[in-house]
Amino acid sequence: MRTVDLLILGASQVVTVAPDAEAWGEDRPGPLAGTAMQDVGVLEDGAVAIHRGRIVAVGPTNEITKAYRGMRRVFARGRVVMPGFVDPHTHPVFAKFREDEFAQRCRGADYEAILAAGGGIHASARALQGTPRAKLLSDLLPRLDRFLLHGTTLIEGKSGYGLTKASELRSLSVLRSADRQHPIDIVRTFLGAHAVPPDRRRRDYIREIIDEMIPLVAERGLAEFCDVFVERGAFTVPEAERILRAARRHGLRAKVHADQFRDGGGALLAAKMKAISVEHVDATGPAGIHALHKAGTIPVLLPSASVFTGLRHLPNGRRFIDAGLPVALSTDFNPGTSPTENQGLVASLACSLLGMTPEEAVVAITRNAAAAIGREDEHGMLVPGHRANLVILDAPSYTFLPYRMGTNLVHAVVVRGRVVVRRGRIQNVK
Ligand code: NIG
Ligand code: FE
Repeated sequence: MRTVDLLILGASQVVTVAPDAEAWGEDRPGPLAGTAMQDVGVLEDGAVAIHRGRIVAVGPTNEITKAYRGMRRVFARGRVVMPGFVDPHTHPVFAKFREDEFAQRCRGADYEAILAAGGGIHASARALQGTPRAKLLSDLLPRLDRFLLHGTTLIEGKSGYGLTKASELRSLSVLRSADRQHPIDIVRTFLGAHAVPPDRRRRDYIREIIDEMIPLVAERGLAEFCDVFVERGAFTVPEAERILRAARRHGLRAKVHADQFRDGGGALLAAKMKAISVEHVDATGPAGIHALHKAGTIPVLLPSASVFTGLRHLPNGRRFIDAGLPVALSTDFNPGTSPTENQGLVASLACSLLGMTPEEAVVAITRNAAAAIGREDEHGMLVPGHRANLVILDAPSYTFLPYRMGTNLVHAVVVRGRVVVRRGRIQNVK
């Protein structure tokens, strides 16, 4: 009998999101695609053994208790145990929420018109530019607490509200500090190409991104990915291609905000650049879907942003999955188009609005979300060797997660084998 740090016992369901684990052999497991998204890998009356921050074993409670003695034991009777949620697309560094703009939009103002008039992303940039680093960090940490309280243990976080060299670098360094201080893990993405600042000439700003910002971001190890907002009012496809090629030369892999309001060829560009993921894709047509499939680029759907901006378009999750793609879901947490940290809510919206099933939604916020940021070897599944990041839901089956729309069902969260949320409250967060 082996002694381990922590045993989680008697869960009504342990959802591994690794139904294919037996067949892996030496292969590195990727996302689940197409019909494979239908199986989340459920173990009834299941248990998880954890040691030194990693999962050691997953199995029926009676077998795990025969093989392991736990220094600490958590009883999950009547509850679901599943991987910590992964949120592969967030903009969490900003100086202020934009509730005024929201109120204006409720009265009929248009998102793109506000942006064109110097509000929106530009309003966020003006506010961030005047905010000291320490304040950006102290505002970010409670937002990360909220992610954790909603079950998310790994996020991708972007810059993009700086829009000057100094403020973009500062935003990324704030994310790096937060990653070190907070239990949540943060994968960083440089999004200097979020909008052209109104006081800059387009050409000059793009040149600065390519010749100055990208080299500095890479040299200082501040980001792993480079994203571009490809949309009317932001960047064109040729501009984005130049930026993403420069990023690639400096070792930053592409991600693309594409086709949020219209099919502007952003998904085709993402495929051409072999981007790891392409985000929004609300208006992407069949050619874009086909190209993504061939390129192995993961669509990350952001239904809360579509809802919050008035449902002009919605990504068709069903079409992507039926075409055989792996789909991921994200909150797109940001002050303009999606001020929610709740991946459970996103799973609900995916089922109600995007034609996805509860199983597909669960896969899309765990394993596939991890794959969309290159972390599927350690996150998003409950299998031996993975980080011991998991969520205990106050519900008897995983279907409750999308079903109980908007309700936070998270009872406990474990990060690297430590219980960081208990009875819905943050514990010793450090
Ligand atoms: O993902 N689409 C571009 N960027 C963000 C929103 C930016 C904002 O309005 O602050 C998004 O929706
Ligand atoms: Fe976004």
